[in-house]
Order: sequence, then structure tokens, then C-alpha cells
Amino acid sequence: MPDLKGAGIKVIHKCTSVRHSLKAEKIGCDAVSVDGFECGGHPGEDDIPNMILLPRAAEELSIPFVASGGMGNGQQLAAALSMGADGINMGTRFIATKEAPVHQNVKEALVAASELDTELIMRPLRNTERVLANGAVQKILEKEKALGDEIQITDIMDEVAGVYPKIMQEGTMDAGAWSCGMVAGLIHDILLEGAR
Ligand SMILES: Cc1cc2nc3c(=O)[nH]c(=O)nc-3n(C[C@H](O)[C@H](O)[C@H](O)COP(=O)(O)O)c2cc1C
Repeated sequence: MPDLKGAGIKVIHKCTSVRHSLKAEKIGCDAVSVDGFECGGHPGEDDIPNMILLPRAAEELSIPFVASGGMGNGQQLAAALSMGADGINMGTRFIATKEAPVHQNVKEALVAASELDTELIMRPLRNTERVLANGAVQKILEKEKALGDEIQITDIMDEVAGVYPKIMQEGTMDAGAWSCGMVAGLIHDILLEGAR
């Protein structure tokens, strides 16, 4: 690791498993963010939800860790702390806020979605990503089914490459796959900071 500590920088590594967290600890990271299976984005390939992953991380780690994945309210923060985490990292929930610099369509899609509306894509590529279900995601899943283990990233390039500006800035919601967690089921409003 470059001399980040010498420059006064704290290193927080993102992990999706206890073994990767322990490796981060071993190589000198100051803390880890532990992402459970329910998280938006890349949950890894072990599929361990936070109800198990967080207490397991607490059993093994000496460095502090924050709970990531599925976090959307104060009750969950309290639950994460009680399972041994030192804080939480929120992803999806922060998008549905007035301050988030993304298109209104994205925020409204999160309010409209339930906990059943995410899909896992790119599993055959061992690059699993949890995304909000939409037309582009449906296409990816159909290609994954048809091509099986033969699938290459190039087969789904149209649905995953360079799509974020179209979705986040232009609000074209079917332009491609975008990361979204199961916590969408707990998002019922577009919040303003300090509103609660
Ligand atoms: C739209 C979106 C984009 C993300 N992009 C990244 C990224 O580029 N790198 C990364 O490490 N995590 C990324 N994440 C994952 C978050 O950092 C965080 O681990 C995750 O959102 C936590 O789960 P939650 O969405 O259930 O709160 C992204 C998440 C979302 C929702």
C-alpha cells in the first residue's frame, strides 16, 4: 500500500466477506465497510446477508467496520450497532433525497420500487451486481439464460456500458442497468436533509 497513512489519510476498504475483511486488516487498512447480500451494486459471490455477515465480522475483526447494504433508517442503524458494527454506509437510500444530484425520475423509481424489484445480473461473469429491474435488465437476464457459461461481457455491453449518465442525468430509466439495493422497499419518500 502506498504511504497513505504517512499523509494522514485513513483507508477504509470495501469488502463483501469476512475473509476479505481480514485481508484488509492484515495489509493495514484502518477500517472496512462490510457489504451484505442485500446491498445495491456488487455484493460479491458468497450471498451472505447482513444479519449473519455483521456478527461474523464482529467475531473476527479487530479494526472498526461499518455495516453496508440495506441500511435506510435509524432502526437499522441501531440494529447494525447492536450486531457489532461501528456505523453504517448508506447507498441507495441517499439517492432518494432532495439534495442528491440525480434526475427526479431516478428518485421516483426508488419510491415506486418494492424490496422485490431488484435483480442480480452478471453472475455468470462472477461480477454480480444488484440492480433495479427494468427492460434493459430483462434483456441481460434473457441473454444470460440463452448463452449460459459462454456469455462474455461484450454480449451485454449495450445494457451496462456508459449507461449511468443517461439514467442519472437524463432520467432515461430503461437505458441500462443501474445499481439499487433491496432497501428500495423501505424508501417511501424523497427526503430533505434534517427533515426528520
Ligand atoms: C447507484 C449506485 C452506484 C454505486 N457505485 C459504486 C461504485 O462505483 N463503487 C463502489 O464501491 N460501490 C458502489 N455502490 C455501492 C455503494 O457504495 C454501497 O456499498 C451500497 O449502495 C450499499 O448498499 P445499499 O444500496 O443497500 O445502501 C453503488 C451503489 C449505488 C446504489
